[in-house]
Amino acid sequence: MEIKEYVIKRKEGMIQEISTLDRPPVLSIISVGHNPASESYMKGKCKDSADVGITAIRTGLDESATEEELLDVIRKQNADDSIDGIIVQLPVPAGIRESSIIETICKEKDVDGFRKDSPFVSCTPKGIVDYLEREGFNFSGKNAVVMGRSNIVGRPMAKLLLDRSCNVTVIHSKTCEEDKKLFLANADLIVVAIGKEAILNSSYKLKETAWIVDVGINRGEDGKLHGDVEPNLPVAKQTPVPGGVGLLTRLALIENVLEASKNK
Ligand code: GUN
Repeated sequence: MEIKEYVIKRKEGMIQEISTLDRPPVLSIISVGHNPASESYMKGKCKDSADVGITAIRTGLDESATEEELLDVIRKQNADDSIDGIIVQLPVPAGIRESSIIETICKEKDVDGFRKDSPFVSCTPKGIVDYLEREGFNFSGKNAVVMGRSNIVGRPMAKLLLDRSCNVTVIHSKTCEEDKKLFLANADLIVVAIGKEAILNSSYKLKETAWIVDVGINRGEDGKLHGDVEPNLPVAKQTPVPGGVGLLTRLALIENVLEASKNK
C-alpha cells in the first residue's frame, strides 16, 4: 500500500477511537526562537493532530529565553493533568542543552520517545517498523543494514530491528567503503538516515529483492526536497521522498499522544 493511503487508513482508525474517549488527547508543542524548518514541522504536527481530533497547543518562547525559563515551562506542563504529551521542537538555540530538555519532560508525557526510560518508541523508527509490518516484511533472520547512528533514528532503529530478529549491521562515517559495499550487497532491508543526498546510489550492487527505507530530507540545489537514496534503484521496494518516511514519523507522533492519553 502506498504510504499516503496507509496513513489515511490509520488516521481513520484513530478518529474512531478518539471519538470514544472522555476528552480529546492534548499535545503541547513548545518551541524556542524561529527556525523556518521547525515552523513547517510544527505546522504539520498541528494539522495531523486536528485531522484526528487531538488538541494541539503551542507555546513559543523568545529566541533569548534561557534554559531555566524553558525548563520552568516544561515542569508546569508536567504537572498539568490536562496535557497528555509534551514535545520541545529541536533544534533549540545554543545555550540550551537538549539533554536537560529530555531529562525534564516526564516519561509519561515524552511522546517523542527520547528518554531512555520512555514508555514510547521514538517516532521515526516506530513509524517505519509499523509500516514494514503492515506491508508484510518478514523480519526474522533478514540482513538489515542501518546507515547512520544518530540517537533519534539510527540507534533506536537498529534496536527495533534486532528485537524483530534481524541480523543488524550499522554503517557509519568510520565504515570503510569496501565493507560498506559488502554489507549493502547482502542486505534485505536498508534504512538510510545519513542526511546526504543520494548517498545510497546505483554505484552499489544491491539485491533485487531488497527493501529500502529513505529517511533523508535534503534541500537540493534545485530548491526541491531529495532523499538520501537515488530514486528508482532496481530493488523490490523503495520509499519516496517527499511523501514517505516523513508521513510515517508524523503518524507515529499522534499515535504516541493517543497512547499517552489512554495510559492515564
Ligand atoms: N526536530 C526534528 N525532528 C524532530 C522530532 O522528531 N522531535 C522534535 N521534538 N524535534 C525535532
